[in-house]
Amino acid sequence: MKKGSIVIYNASEVVTCSGFKGKAGDQMQDLKVIKNASIVVEDGIITKITDDVLDLNYYREKEFALIDATNKCVLPGFVDSHTHFIFGGYRADEYNWRLNGVSYMEIMNRGGGIINSVKGTKETTKEELISLGIRRLNSMAGFGVTTVEGKSGYGLDLDTEIKQLEVMKELNKIHSLDIITTFLGPHARPVEYKQEPDKFIDFMIDDVLPIVDQRGLAEFADIFCEENVFSVEQSRRFLLAAQKRGFKLKVHADEIVRLGGAELAAELGAISADHLLQASDEGINAMKEAGVVATVLPCTAFSLKESYARVRHMIDQGLVVALATDFNPGSCFTESIPLLIALATNQMGMTIEETITALTINGAAAVDRADQVGSIDIGKKADLVVHEFPSYKFLPYHIGVSTVEKVVKNGVIILDKENNQPL
Ligand code: NIG
Ligand code: FE
Repeated sequence: MKKGSIVIYNASEVVTCSGFKGKAGDQMQDLKVIKNASIVVEDGIITKITDDVLDLNYYREKEFALIDATNKCVLPGFVDSHTHFIFGGYRADEYNWRLNGVSYMEIMNRGGGIINSVKGTKETTKEELISLGIRRLNSMAGFGVTTVEGKSGYGLDLDTEIKQLEVMKELNKIHSLDIITTFLGPHARPVEYKQEPDKFIDFMIDDVLPIVDQRGLAEFADIFCEENVFSVEQSRRFLLAAQKRGFKLKVHADEIVRLGGAELAAELGAISADHLLQASDEGINAMKEAGVVATVLPCTAFSLKESYARVRHMIDQGLVVALATDFNPGSCFTESIPLLIALATNQMGMTIEETITALTINGAAAVDRADQVGSIDIGKKADLVVHEFPSYKFLPYHIGVSTVEKVVKNGVIILDKENNQPL
C-alpha cells in the first residue's frame, strides 16, 4: 500500500464543512453535504471529492488503500481546541465535594483545585506524563478527534511548565494526532505568590516566557482571567508581553465572574476567548467586531453545575463559535465528544449542524489552522472519520455513544473499530 494514499468510496454522506476560515452566525448551519460521494487522498492530502462513481480498479492498481463507506457518513476529524490533557494525579474527591454542593471557587480558596494538580504534575516524571498522554490521545482519537490543543499550567514554575510543554512536543512527534501547544503559565497563583499576583506575573514575563519563546515550545499564550486569580490588568500585561514575542493569544475569560475577559480578548485581537459563561453583551459584540472565536465548553459548565454559556445569543449575534472539551483533572475530567454533542444539542439549543461546524472548521479556526484542517476540501490534510451510520444526524441521536468507526489521519488509517484495529 502507498502510505497516505487512500480512497473512501460511496459514502452516503460526505459532510464537508467546506471552508478555509471560521464560520460566523448563520453560516454555521451549512455543512455542505455531498450525498453518495467519494474522497481521494494522495500523500496525506485530499485531492478529489466527487459524487461520480470511481474506477476502483485504477486506484487498486496504484496501491491506494480502499475504504467502502456504503451506508456510512464521513466527517472531518474533530478539532478539540481547548484541553489541559497533560497532568499528574487526579481530583476525584473534589468532584464528589462539588456533587455535594461545594463550589469550584470554594475548593480553590481552601487550597485545592489547580494547585492540587500542580503538586501531582511536579511529582510525575516526564516519561510517566508521556505515557499518560498517549493513553489520553488514544481515547480522544476514539471519539474522532484528530487535532488537539494542549495547555501547560500545572507547573507555575519554570521547570514544570517547560516539562509539560516538552511532553506535548514529544507527543506531537510520536503520536499520530497533531498537538498545538499553549503556554498557560498564569493558570493559578502558586502558594509562594498567593498574596503577590503582580510579582508572579513579572516572574512569568521575565523568567518563563522568554525561555518558552526561545525554545519554540508554544504557539499560543493563555491566562486564567478570573476574580481572585488574575485581574484584567494583570492579564493584559501578560498577554501583551506574550504578543510582543509573537505568541498568538487565548484567554480563559468570564468563566465564573463577569470581569471583562471577553472585552480584553477583543482589545488584544486574541484568536479565541474561552468559557464565557458570564460574558456581557458588550464583550460578545466586541469579540464579533474583532473576529475573536468564542470557544464554548459545555462539559465544564455541566461538571461545575453552572449555567451554560449563552451560545444561542452568540451565534445569533454572528460570532464564530467553536466547541471544545476543556479536558482537565478538575473542572472537567472528560474528553468525551459524545457528551459534548449531547449537551450542545439537547441542553444549549444548538442545532446539529452548528454543533458539527463548531467542532470542525470553527475548532480549526480557534487554533489558527482553518486553512489546513477542519473540513473536507481539496488541498487540506486528509483527517477523515468514517461514522457507522448513514447520516450525521445520528451523532446526537445515538446519545452519549461514539459513532466513530474508522479514523484516518494524514491519509493513514490509525483506528479501525470495524476490523478491531486499535490505536
Ligand atoms: O479551563 N478555569 C481554569 N482552568 C481550567 C480548570 C483547570 C483545573 O481545574 O484543573 C478550566 O476550566
Ligand atoms: Fe481550560
